[in-house]
Amino acid sequence: MFNLDMFIKLKDGREVKIGKVQSEGVISRVVINGKKVSRHRINNYILTAFYNSKKVASFNVTRPTTVHGIYYSKHVGEMGYFVAKGFRGSGLSYYMVYCMAKSVLKMGIKIILINTIPSNKASITLFSRSGGKKAGLMEKVLKINKKYVDSLWMESTAGNVIKNSRKMWEKKGVKELKS
Ligand SMILES: CC(C)(COP(=O)(O)OP(=O)(O)OC[C@H]1O[C@@H](n2cnc3c(N)ncnc32)[C@H](O)[C@@H]1OP(=O)(O)O)[C@@H](O)C(=O)NCCC(=O)NCCS
Repeated sequence: MFNLDMFIKLKDGREVKIGKVQSEGVISRVVINGKKVSRHRINNYILTAFYNSKKVASFNVTRPTTVHGIYYSKHVGEMGYFVAKGFRGSGLSYYMVYCMAKSVLKMGIKIILINTIPSNKASITLFSRSGGKKAGLMEKVLKINKKYVDSLWMESTAGNVIKNSRKMWEKKGVKELKS
């Protein structure tokens, strides 16, 4: 199961609940060597943080789409994230990255990717300090405000993300509380 409920305390004393992780499953039906195969696979993991019952961060990991209906990349997940303004810089983002990487590793995701725009310094720094490396730049594949913009891919093993993001949230004074 991909469920968890836990609490952390930020350096300024605010207690944040990391909420239940929702998941979304798909059933793929493929033919391999003439044999019909059906697989149920969980493809989307969502981790949410709450402060006073208000959502303050949302992180998700999605497995990439299939090639000819076959999950060649079931060990890979693409992570997306959002942290509310009043909680940025608090270490919550690193804790969420850590928690997400730990959770999806248990589900067989060994490589984590992020996709961002080269000007998103907060996102790039968050993932770099969590162990991520730049993996490639796709030129002008995004269209934002009528302008074509490059898309930057970064990657890391989940193990590396867990190790590095943990160092960062510890450094920022985040404490895990007993749930
Ligand atoms: C991306 C996001 C989740 C990062 O969370 P955050 O709480 O802002 O992260 P932090 O403030 O801890 O920033 C991470 C690092 O980036 C640095 N950073 C932040 N803004 C920066 C900027 N404009 N230039 C350079 N570095 C910056 C921080 O100093 C921090 O470095 P540190 O760990 O050495 O202190 C958050 O900014 C957000 O939700 N942004 C809007 C949504 C978004 O862009 N999502 C990502 C889409 S790919």
